[in-house]
Amino acid sequence: MAERLDAFLSRAGFGSRRDAKALIKAGRVMVNGINVKDPGVSVSSGVSVDSKPVEPAPDGLWVILNKPIGIACSHDPTEAPLLDELLPPVFRRLGAEPAGRLDRDTSGLLVITSDGALIQRLTHPKRHVTKRYQVVFEGTLAEDAVDRFKNGILLDGEDEITRPARIEVESGVGQSQHATIWLREGRYHQVRRMLAAVGGKVVALHRDRVGAFDLPSDLRPGEFRDLSEKEIELLLSDEAT
Ligand code: URA
Repeated sequence: MAERLDAFLSRAGFGSRRDAKALIKAGRVMVNGINVKDPGVSVSSGVSVDSKPVEPAPDGLWVILNKPIGIACSHDPTEAPLLDELLPPVFRRLGAEPAGRLDRDTSGLLVITSDGALIQRLTHPKRHVTKRYQVVFEGTLAEDAVDRFKNGILLDGEDEITRPARIEVESGVGQSQHATIWLREGRYHQVRRMLAAVGGKVVALHRDRVGAFDLPSDLRPGEFRDLSEKEIELLLSDEAT
């Protein structure tokens, strides 16, 4: 993508546009080996600063992260540690954001992208992309828990029941039991609150599937990698709950 030299340098990590202009004016920038003093010159490659080649920033980011527990999906420094600390600075520079949030204490599949349209398609309440969660919980669930998930639950402080959801409980042994939950919306603390409404308390929560895309088993907590176009289609494909 051709762009102004100052914008190219700024996106490549040389500070603000003003910082980049200062570098250019100081005569430290070359384009194809020629010293350039015009910040408005159009470039897409061949730029060097202090004779060191500059890697162009990517046009956009489409990434999946296996979010570890203990990290907040927020930019508020009082909630640190934040996703921003886990990801390279280019994510901030390109305006990449998570498509929906996972709680600090939830791990698993998080899509992070600079593509606002993709965020919209993954999170818009009308699209109902299915998300699957693995849950460890304590407590005794109501006998009609499965039906209540299916028929919708009126959560505290809300005036609309939840969309049809699905829960499958493994016959639990001892205090901690395991369930798989499928949701087609993303309300605040939704799994925790729905489970609490039927008598359970979440001990651990992990998202392992969005649409028809499974969190790759080789992506360890804290690791991220690029998504292919095919994988983005899988993320967006609807699954019946
Ligand atoms: N439901 C929750 O309660 N927390 C999450 O992070 C995701 C879904």
